[in-house]
Amino acid sequence: MAVRLQALTERPVYPVMRRMRRAFMRRLGRWSRGAYDVRLVYDHGEPVYKKVVFNSAHQAGRVAAALRAYGESVFVPSLRHHAGNAIWVDYVAGHAFDPNASDQPKRVAECFTSFALRPSRGVALADSGLIETLYERLATLSEHGVLDAALGRALAARIARFDGRQTLRFGFDYADPIAANLLTRADTGQTCAIDVKNVRQDGLVGLGVAKARARWLDEAGLSAILTHWQRQGLDDVVRSFDFVQVYERIERVAQQAATDIRSRGGIRKRDAKIDKLQTLLG
Ligand SMILES: Nc1ncnc2c1ncn2[C@@H]1O[C@H](COP(=O)(O)OP(=O)(O)OP(=O)(O)O)[C@@H](O)[C@H]1O
Ligand SMILES: [Mg+2]
Repeated sequence: MAVRLQALTERPVYPVMRRMRRAFMRRLGRWSRGAYDVRLVYDHGEPVYKKVVFNSAHQAGRVAAALRAYGESVFVPSLRHHAGNAIWVDYVAGHAFDPNASDQPKRVAECFTSFALRPSRGVALADSGLIETLYERLATLSEHGVLDAALGRALAARIARFDGRQTLRFGFDYADPIAANLLTRADTGQTCAIDVKNVRQDGLVGLGVAKARARWLDEAGLSAILTHWQRQGLDDVVRSFDFVQVYERIERVAQQAATDIRSRGGIRKRDAKIDKLQTLLG
């Protein structure tokens, strides 16, 4: 990690309009991301690193530790330096990730599998605390009038049907695989998870895939991943995926509701939230 940063220059990664918006929101006191910033670091005009500035040294340390534990890989930019509240990772040359490209199912499966195959620990669903979390989320959604009594009961029954003896795995996961957080490498065409703050060391394995499924991953892409996982011996993760998907959906709707209340003073798009939960009932 002998990086000579003094000789290098830095430029913001965000386009000018986004920076102006951030400055404006800051002045209004409505900027919630604090000092968080992403910059590219250049050596003689060539991008070499991405520098991520966090709100605290603690956050930077957490991400640095996860990257160190993950190790060098084509699927995640390598950590090169860590100081105070900032980390430096390799710049990866590539182009925007296109979920519809023909080789994408294979590429995406490789990338997610590299996370799922890292060491993980098994925990029985009944001992994981996640069932209790889901019941709490349902209670909160009912209090805020998102769920009526019938839908609340139906969702609680759906959760109660899961076998508490099934094993969940906790370990490496890429927590926010939206298309903008993935990159197609120029050198090999592989998918690289560039938004390093989302590399989790003790995440629920499979949660990232469930999130990708909710955003851009189609049914065929998902089954390609699950088949690949089965072949690699990740049976627990495949068996628990139905639970993981239910968990992801309820957590997401609950988070959206909490954000609505915090920033808008009340629930918005209630029907869309109900639809998302209703589809869990099949
Ligand atoms: N290691 C990298 N190599 C090359 N380009 C990168 C790298 N990391 C990020 N980028 C580019 O910078 C953009 C923003 O990066 P990143 O996703 O890390 O920021 P961010 O934290 O998500 O910011 P925000 O949350 O506001 O979107 C990416 O969409 C990508 O275009
Ligand atoms: Mg991002």
